[in-house]
Amino acid sequence: MIDLHRAVAPSILSADFGHLADEIEMLNRSEASLIHCDVMDGVFVPNLSFGFPVLEAIRPIAKKPLDVHLMITHPERYVERFCDAGAWSVGFHLEAVDDPLPILELIEAKGVRTCLTINPDISPERLLPYLDKVNMVLLMSVFAGFGGQKFIPETLDKVRYIRTEITKRQLPTLIEVDGGVNIANAHLLYDAGADILVAGSSVFHAAQAEQAIIDMKR
Ligand code: DX5
Ligand code: ZN
Repeated sequence: MIDLHRAVAPSILSADFGHLADEIEMLNRSEASLIHCDVMDGVFVPNLSFGFPVLEAIRPIAKKPLDVHLMITHPERYVERFCDAGAWSVGFHLEAVDDPLPILELIEAKGVRTCLTINPDISPERLLPYLDKVNMVLLMSVFAGFGGQKFIPETLDKVRYIRTEITKRQLPTLIEVDGGVNIANAHLLYDAGADILVAGSSVFHAAQAEQAIIDMKR
């Protein structure tokens, strides 16, 4: 079982796609716990990224589990294909759907871990009914759509709020935070109760990516 305490999940959105295999090899060697894969549809967010072919291409070379973050409308249409493409976990946005429960069931039926995500303008209270029904929740600390944005500090209170609830209910649910994470704020997020930090530009644009991952965890 992988250790997801004070874990880092580099987002390949900021990787060099011309040398994607080299970037995955670097992550294989590194202390990264998961490889975060950002899927955008140009509708739920005003940007496009990548989908099944890229996941299928990295799956055989990646030695770390693929953490798939769907920023798409109608995730119910695609979650099973992402499971089949090799996802270790599949997450989608609560605000993108009417009822997340049947979609969570589709993912679970594939034996894949579930994650519910919210953007910064969605109250974390809306996650409470689902905390015992998902493996992870992902709190966005920037608005989904682009790498390289500035961390929203109010996220720290949201992490504490969800952590308190998870502790009170003695749930195994993991807390992931995504957006603007760097060496300066990583320890604050872990101390607030985050388990997994997604980091794109602060890893792939660092002079030494592997060292940046180590420094974030310390
Ligand atoms: C944003 C994505 C993030 C993004 C993070 O929509 O969900 O995963 O890649 O990039 P940084 O770490 O640069 O904010
Ligand atoms: Zn993401």
